[in-house]
Amino acid sequence: MIWKILYLVTLWAIGLCLIWLVVRSNLNEGVRAAIKLFAYLIALPAGWGTFIFLLITLTGSWSESESEVDPWHAMLLPWLLLPVICVFEVRSLFHRTVRLDDLLLPERGESSEKALKIAHLSDLHLTQRPTLGEGHSRTSILDHANRAIRWATESTDLVVLAGDITDRGDRDEWGLYEDIISQLDEPDRNRILVIPGNHDLSLTTSFIGLDGGAADVEHELRCRRFVEHCLAHAPRTWRLSRDPQTPVIEVLEKAAEFRRVYEAHPPKPVIVATGIGASLSFSVPQQLSKKASEIATEGLLWPTSKRYLYRELLTLLYPMVLFENETFVVVGLNSSTPCGTSILSSAFGQLGRKQLREFERLVELSDGKQLIILIHHHVGFTPAIRHRYRQAKPWISAKALQLRDGKRLVRKIKKRGRNVLILHGHKHIAYQASFASGVVLSAPSVAYGDSFSDQNLRGFAYAVSSSGEITLTQRFQL
Ligand SMILES: [Fe+2]
Repeated sequence: MIWKILYLVTLWAIGLCLIWLVVRSNLNEGVRAAIKLFAYLIALPAGWGTFIFLLITLTGSWSESESEVDPWHAMLLPWLLLPVICVFEVRSLFHRTVRLDDLLLPERGESSEKALKIAHLSDLHLTQRPTLGEGHSRTSILDHANRAIRWATESTDLVVLAGDITDRGDRDEWGLYEDIISQLDEPDRNRILVIPGNHDLSLTTSFIGLDGGAADVEHELRCRRFVEHCLAHAPRTWRLSRDPQTPVIEVLEKAAEFRRVYEAHPPKPVIVATGIGASLSFSVPQQLSKKASEIATEGLLWPTSKRYLYRELLTLLYPMVLFENETFVVVGLNSSTPCGTSILSSAFGQLGRKQLREFERLVELSDGKQLIILIHHHVGFTPAIRHRYRQAKPWISAKALQLRDGKRLVRKIKKRGRNVLILHGHKHIAYQASFASGVVLSAPSVAYGDSFSDQNLRGFAYAVSSSGEITLTQRFQL
């Protein structure tokens, strides 16, 4: 009996370890789900079996002569739970969302001298393809982006680009963005605050299983392009939130330095003989480990001597302080971390616990200043907007397109007890809304306009006073 119990405990431990490893891993969602299911198949019956055999050992009340039920068969009972687990996995796609209230901002052409004037643009979808959906040509999209950015820099203090700058995060598309930006003077360029959107970083165009691994690789490549073509132009005023003295650009310079050493002296895979077989390991050249420890002593957690991943670099960089003076602080968040690798779920937004934790710390530090948050995804919908969305796109859950951890974000903002302003884009719908702790402003798309209006709206300008009072000062229409 003892051997049976040991065997089952081992199986149970293997299942639990697998689940633990998968939860902590960076594998894509499809592979994670498959391994998790396999681990449940092992762990559940093994755990239950251990319990049954322990019971038999302790009480001696279940023997094959006394019972018609074979304990080995009874072990399979937990498999009945599998459908329940599957339901929970699917349910996790449909998270709880934030309910917003309707808001109508006051409109005024002039704003007080002290107010911060912000142009709010989003979803430029720059592309090299001849047309995008709904028949928008490449040239018209480029023209809209050029005009919108020119309008924004002429009339405001700060210009916000709330993600989806490109349509597929390709190198050529980022080239178009660089062309637009290079036409501006340096002071104007430095007033443009950019965050990534799902099209820039995490969009997938097929289903799980077809390109699960490819989606991961593509995400990594897009993160690299975002770093090299967008963040590389960041002014020195963009700073790390976890170390407010360090400009983002300095981290990127160190990262580029490390990459040069990594490529010249890459780690080499080696097979290491062990007692009962062999395992794969990496030998790290001296130059590389020296560079890695140099960076580590400066407090940077990325990269390690064995790998550098741009998606991990972005995790280190966000939340990012994009602008700060004695009255205002503008924080950029990255909600385009992949929480799905299929066409069904890659448009979802997620900040992740790490980023939220850091954000909470930042919120505490910025107490006393007017906080403005830039994020790509919707934090929530008002009932009216949700209703309209359901009517327009009944086959897509409006919930699913919002930030999956929006509730957590709002909870952290509420702790602050002072009003904040959230600016975002994503679904190309212009609306103003409020919640207990602030105001949420959703931008139309510079490329596509506003899905719910025929006014050809492409952007807005607001004036934000030091006390958090917001007025709509301009609309950008084509
Ligand atoms: Fe988007």
